[in-house]
Order: sequence, then structure tokens, then C-alpha cells
Amino acid sequence: MGHMPPFAAADTRYASMPYRRCGRSGLKLPAISLGLWQNFGDINPLDTQRSLLRRAFDRGVTHFDLANNYGPPFGSAETNFGRILKEDFLPYRDELIISTKAGWDMWPGPYGGMNGSKKYMIASFDQSLKRMGLDYVDIYYSHRPDPFTPLEETMGALALLYKQGKALYVGISNYNAELTKQAVAILKSEGVPLTISQPNYSLLDRWIEPDLLGTNSDNGVGTIVFSPLAQGFLSTKYLKEVPGDSRAARLEWVRNGLTEATIGRIKALNGLAHARGQSLAQMALAWTLRDERITSTLIGARTVEQLDDSLGALANLAFSAAELDAADQITRGDPDIFTAPAKANGDDLRADPDYRA
Ligand SMILES: NC(=O)c1ccc[n+]([C@@H]2O[C@H](COP(=O)([O-])OP(=O)(O)OC[C@H]3O[C@@H](n4cnc5c(N)ncnc54)[C@H](OP(=O)(O)O)[C@@H]3O)[C@@H](O)[C@H]2O)c1
Repeated sequence: MGHMPPFAAADTRYASMPYRRCGRSGLKLPAISLGLWQNFGDINPLDTQRSLLRRAFDRGVTHFDLANNYGPPFGSAETNFGRILKEDFLPYRDELIISTKAGWDMWPGPYGGMNGSKKYMIASFDQSLKRMGLDYVDIYYSHRPDPFTPLEETMGALALLYKQGKALYVGISNYNAELTKQAVAILKSEGVPLTISQPNYSLLDRWIEPDLLGTNSDNGVGTIVFSPLAQGFLSTKYLKEVPGDSRAARLEWVRNGLTEATIGRIKALNGLAHARGQSLAQMALAWTLRDERITSTLIGARTVEQLDDSLGALANLAFSAAELDAADQITRGDPDIFTAPAKANGDDLRADPDYRA
């Protein structure tokens, strides 16, 4: 445990976080959840990871979101989380909602690449349990659609784990509205509810507004949105330069999104946040929660300071019509910078000549 003292959770941990019902299920999620995609790999200091998880839980964040391939390297976020869980959080297991996923590239060969086969979904699930030291997860997701695997097979794998009690709830991520309707129907025929959908959504990526959000809601499916800060763009950090410790400095595809037009939108949104007395990150998070159909907004944080700033969004979740209008003027009609609708339909795999179906 390094030099950190043993963990005793704060008595005040449920004092200020709102919890929202996930679709038509009995499950409630915190308005802000924490994801372990980028900042919990072996390249990140374990003490910082532990401090982030402790601080989040002390402030009412009961939901931690993982996937088989979070790291780097793949699997390391689950392993690190499992270690911290064992050392700090086991007395609180029943206060936690832990999710994981499979669907993207994970291990070599035909069974561990991008796909939705039963073989992959079940084997990956068992690996995830081992890495995290768990005997069940709260939510298991199909991480992305696979156009070459019958949806019945992928949903059948989720249904099997649900019926075995190994996944208390099941979900889908990066699926479009049409595939979501099909997933709901297939799972229903197995007697299994689709509880949650995880798409990306932010002021700079509004693709779920026309169809997916309504489809989820009509079918009793909750929506948890990821990358609500658009990889950190919805903060002031990129207004002058690309800081050396930032995600854009590390990842080229993120850096490529930093066009002049996007910087212009970020500046305008920053003015709006300032007028509301919030940081831009806080306003961006509050904005994703303005619609009650959104169960939770799923943040990433690299430092405890970022986490605290982001959780400060809860102090002002209300928007006037004029503020919403102003945000629309700045963002609506602009291209979504990190959304690939082709991915939500599986078309990216259909089009990839290197992809082995
Ligand atoms: N289902 C999927 O396909 C999928 C895909 C992506 C993510 N997710 C989930 O969603 C979670 C969140 O995604 P994300 O990390 O992209 O979310 P995000 O909140 O949009 O971005 C997080 C990054 O923004 C910066 N940041 C965070 N809080 C900040 C603050 N208050 N002020 C300034 N900068 C701040 C940090 O970047 P710097 O490191 O640059 O400082 C941080 O690493 C993931 O961990 C994962 O659980 C799911």
C-alpha cells in the first residue's frame, strides 16, 4: 500500500451526490461515475490511482467503470483496480457498482480481437473476474457492435452470464438506435432486460440526441454517457498550448481533433461557463445531466484536483433557457469531433480491409 494509511470511507460520502434510476430498472447510479480507461494502467502511479478511487468514493461516486482492455497494457486497469479493491474497498463491495466490457481488441488470435462471439464474451468475462478478484460484476457490456457476429449470439452470451448471476445487469456500448431496438427484443425473448446503454456524449459530440436517447428511454434502458469532456477538450487546458502531461500530447488521434474551429467553440463555451460561475469542465458535465434521461455522466480524471473540480459540477446543475440556447448556438450543427457513427453501426469493421471476420 506504499506509504498511504489504511482506508476508512468518509461518513459524509452520501451527503451530496444525487442518484438517478437507470432506465426502468431498480438500479440507481451516481449522477457522476468514474471510468478507468486512461489513468489506471501500469504507466500510472498506483498511489494516484488509489487516491482517485478513495476520493471519488468519499464523495459519493459508487460506480467504477472498466473494460478488459483498459490500461495500458491491456488488462492492467482491471488488475490495478482489483488490487486496490482488495486492499481498500472489500468492506464496501455492496456499496459499489463495478462494470466491465468486452468487444475491442484484447488478445492475439481469432478469439480475442474485435468481435462479439460467445467464445470471446465468455472467456473475456472470466479473465476480468480473475484480474479484479471478483466473483460477479454489477454490469457487463458488449463494448461495440460486431457486424459479423449475429446479434443473437452476442446478446445470448450476455443473457447467459445474467442468468448465471455473474452479471447482475447487462448493457451495450457504442450501439446505434436501430441495433439497440434489436438488442432489446433479443434479450427480452431470453427474459433478460437491457438495463443500460453507454454512448459518448458531450457539447462537442451530440449524435445521440436525434434517436438513441429517445430509443433508450422508450425501451426502459438507462443511458450513461462517456467522454463528457470530449477527451479533456472541454476545459481550459488547450486554449494556449498542448500541455506536456495532457492526453492530446500522448495520443495523436486526440491531438488531431484540436482544430482552430474547435478551439473557437471551446473559447465561446468557456465564456458561458464563466458567466455561470463554473469552470468549463463543470459546466460541460452539468450540461450532460440537464436531461433526466441521462442516468449518469462518466468522467475520467488523471489527478485528484481534476476529480474534485469535476465533482464540483454538482453545485449548479440548473440551466436557464437562455444558457441552453447559447450552448446550442455554439455547438449545434457543428461536426461531432470524436463520434464515429460508422462504429455505432459496425460499418467501420465492414470497411476495414485488415479486419478478419
Ligand atoms: N464505452 C466506450 O467505448 C468508452 C470509450 C471511452 C471512454 N469510456 C469510459 O468513459 C470514461 C471517461 O472517458 P474519458 O476519460 O474520455 O472522459 P473525459 O472526462 O471526457 O476525459 C477525461 C480527461 O479529461 C481531462 N480532465 C478530466 N477532468 C478535468 C478537469 N476537471 N479539468 C480539466 N481537465 C480534466 C483529463 O485529461 P488530461 O489527462 O489530458 O489532463 C482526463 O484524463 C472512461 O474512463 C471509460 O470508463 C468508454
